[in-house]
Amino acid sequence: MKKIVFALLLLVGISLQAQEISIIPKPAKMDVQNGKFLFNGKVVICYPVAKDVDFRKVVDNFVVELKETTGVKLAKSTPKKQKSAFGDAVKYGKKGDAHIVIHIDGDMAEEEYKLSVTTKRIDITAAKPAGLFYAFQTLKQLMPRNVMAGVPDESIREWSVPCVEIADEPRFSWRGFMLDEGRHFYGKEEIKKIIDVMATYKMNRFHWHLTEDQGWRIEIKKYPKLTEIGAWRDSKVCAWGDVKPDGIRYGGFYTHEEIKEVVEYAKERFVEIIPEVDIPGHSQAAVASYPEFLACDPENKHEVWLSQGVSSDVINVANPLAVQFAKDVIDELIELFPFGYLHLGGDECPTYKWERNSDCQALLKEIGSDKYRDLQIHFYKQLLDHVAQKPVEKQRKLVFWNEVLHGNTESLGKDITIMAWIGADRAAKDAAMRGMTTILSPQIPYYINRRQSKLETEPKSQGHGDETVERVYNYKPMNNVDEELQPKYLGVQANFWTEWVIEPSVVQYLMLPRLVAVAEAGWTPAEERDYDDFIGRLQGEARYYQLKGVDYGKHVFK
Ligand code: ACM
Repeated sequence: MKKIVFALLLLVGISLQAQEISIIPKPAKMDVQNGKFLFNGKVVICYPVAKDVDFRKVVDNFVVELKETTGVKLAKSTPKKQKSAFGDAVKYGKKGDAHIVIHIDGDMAEEEYKLSVTTKRIDITAAKPAGLFYAFQTLKQLMPRNVMAGVPDESIREWSVPCVEIADEPRFSWRGFMLDEGRHFYGKEEIKKIIDVMATYKMNRFHWHLTEDQGWRIEIKKYPKLTEIGAWRDSKVCAWGDVKPDGIRYGGFYTHEEIKEVVEYAKERFVEIIPEVDIPGHSQAAVASYPEFLACDPENKHEVWLSQGVSSDVINVANPLAVQFAKDVIDELIELFPFGYLHLGGDECPTYKWERNSDCQALLKEIGSDKYRDLQIHFYKQLLDHVAQKPVEKQRKLVFWNEVLHGNTESLGKDITIMAWIGADRAAKDAAMRGMTTILSPQIPYYINRRQSKLETEPKSQGHGDETVERVYNYKPMNNVDEELQPKYLGVQANFWTEWVIEPSVVQYLMLPRLVAVAEAGWTPAEERDYDDFIGRLQGEARYYQLKGVDYGKHVFK
């Protein structure tokens, strides 16, 4: 009998432990051990990096979050000499104190970390603030969900972390999410929530699609009409089929101050923002703002578009004032976004109006081509040169959608990045073979604005419910790619287009949990990924979403 009770207790113990450890994305290497580190008595956090502002901020933020969500107050110890921190942690506190000890190992990669939790102390090793931040994210995932959600839970009396040994680093450097705010506009608080969720799952690139035919969403000081005119339209819905314009005045945009606030917020969470101005196609809102030099046919009426689809009202790339406009916009973007990349769009750009415009016809002759697509490349070449002649700290890498590969890209060189969405695997390989870097964001199944199930309750959106969590999870990025091309693959990205999505809660519903599946594809080694295991680990996230106040697809939660 005693034996049975013991076995039962052991089973309960094991299942409790299994429940506690559900880290997403799954770490590269993890070894779960018995026991737990208890936050009782004095706990000292020892870090040899107090002088480094970026490191210190990561530690300080963790200390504050832990205090706010659990009431646990860590004592800080910051030895002056970095070297001494590699030694015995007991040096930094009294004997008997528990410790969290941070070690710096310059040989590790930027986002890599090690986390060792024993009953007596927690050791974290990283080379850079990003690695340290991810170690803390993992540590928070080892605690009740309120910690990651950033809210207190007074019902919990004892705070602890299960004993584990983790050695972790991402598979890909680019783990992205794109949100289209051109079709519908949500505002900075919604963006911050998305950045929080991304950071929870160690995603690090927020691609902000800020301009569309249906709306221009970022203040550009040199061209005020972009937001006086271009940010507003006469329908809240984007008309399509039997959905007609509703006549409701609708719009919005981000001021420079708001952009700076979001940029700071993202930086603290190790998320880089890639702003996109989609030019010269998808630009009807810009054309409506300055038809006198952006339109191919300024004599006609131009308005911010009320419909879905692909507008033919593109920028007149043969007008020198249009080229100057693009350069000026880029200059303001560079000042606002202190990151590595700028996205200039390039998808779905009809050449219909260029073919009927005498300046475009003349320019095509001048550049010695008979393909109107090459006018688009010529336009980009001027923008590329403009960015390249800036001082190093103001230079940016340019990203384009993969239709750009349909033009003669030789003049653009190899130092651009192709975001592959349509025929993504083939397009990415094409880009890599041309020597360009590439990001996989396959329309099917990574466009996570499409319906995520066939349930009746699914909100109106694109698709038929076939882009399920399972399908998203089971997409294999960089599958069957020759080894020598693999370094060109920066990573993966989920995209979210908002033609049908007016409310931020619907963005959340469609985004979660599929974004989490993409996060794991970006981080976890391919051979460690398993859908059933993922769904098991996902179950506890429902509580996180509830505490955080974000909606999610409930059908994969039991
Ligand atoms: C795209 O989906 N038009 C990039």
